[in-house]
Amino acid sequence: MLHTKALPTIGQEVLGLDLAGEIGEETRQRLVDIWRAAGVVLFRGVGTEPEALLKLSRCFGELEPHPIEALRLHGHDELILLTNQGGLRGPVYAFDGVPTYGRIPWHTDLAFQPVPNAGALLNMVHKAETGGSTAWLDTALAYDALDEGLKRRIDGLEARFAFCADLAQMKFGNPGGTRVGETKAAFPDYPPLARPLVWQHPITGAKILNLCPLNIQGIIGMDEAEGDALIRTLIDAVVQPRFIYQHDWQEGDVVLWDNYRMMHCAMGHPVDVLRIVHRSTLRGHATVGRVLAA
Ligand SMILES: [Fe+2]
Repeated sequence: MLHTKALPTIGQEVLGLDLAGEIGEETRQRLVDIWRAAGVVLFRGVGTEPEALLKLSRCFGELEPHPIEALRLHGHDELILLTNQGGLRGPVYAFDGVPTYGRIPWHTDLAFQPVPNAGALLNMVHKAETGGSTAWLDTALAYDALDEGLKRRIDGLEARFAFCADLAQMKFGNPGGTRVGETKAAFPDYPPLARPLVWQHPITGAKILNLCPLNIQGIIGMDEAEGDALIRTLIDAVVQPRFIYQHDWQEGDVVLWDNYRMMHCAMGHPVDVLRIVHRSTLRGHATVGRVLAA
């Protein structure tokens, strides 16, 4: 029998889901409702087979293959392979002298694109023996908890967001770390984007925040020092343990999130420690923001 259990702080765990057979429409709708209400949802014991992740993922919408073919899981175009096995696909930074792979500070996916993905699922195939945890932050809860003065101050404001290929380009909330070596990856030229700081969730209507410390660059139409101070104030108010769930992975776990509402971050792991993750991405249909002239 399908039921849920609250995770510490935020989010829900789904128990009793039978993935061996077909998922009926009633169960699928129930799962969608849980996802919308919780923002982040844990499923344990899903296994590590791509078919299981695909079956679960398709309950929540249309899947979006990664635009870069080399990042897709071989034989499964709708899944992404995130691993340090067989060569690195991203930069390495030294934190406290430990060369670390996969560290990505707080962000929403595609915060530098007008149509962000609606959500995503991660499936732990081989967990890192050291490090490798992932955390989620609920911006709907964080918005509700802002003091009324701050809510009034940010109402109607737009922020500028830019693609960030290197942590050194982060203007706010940079976790530190020293770049080790070069990355060969080349990225398209994404123009900057303006987005409202506060917007309404396109499905639930809840007020949520576009903050995204990885990509935010400033407040549009505001003196730079004043805007930057406001962004720092907001980050301090929002990035708080009471709004965060940090997941310590077991193999076979799947975590699903709502990418409109939740920020997430990856702690990374020592570069010589193996980690294998499969991911699916749920296509978004809501436009938020406008492209700015570069
Ligand atoms: Fe992400």
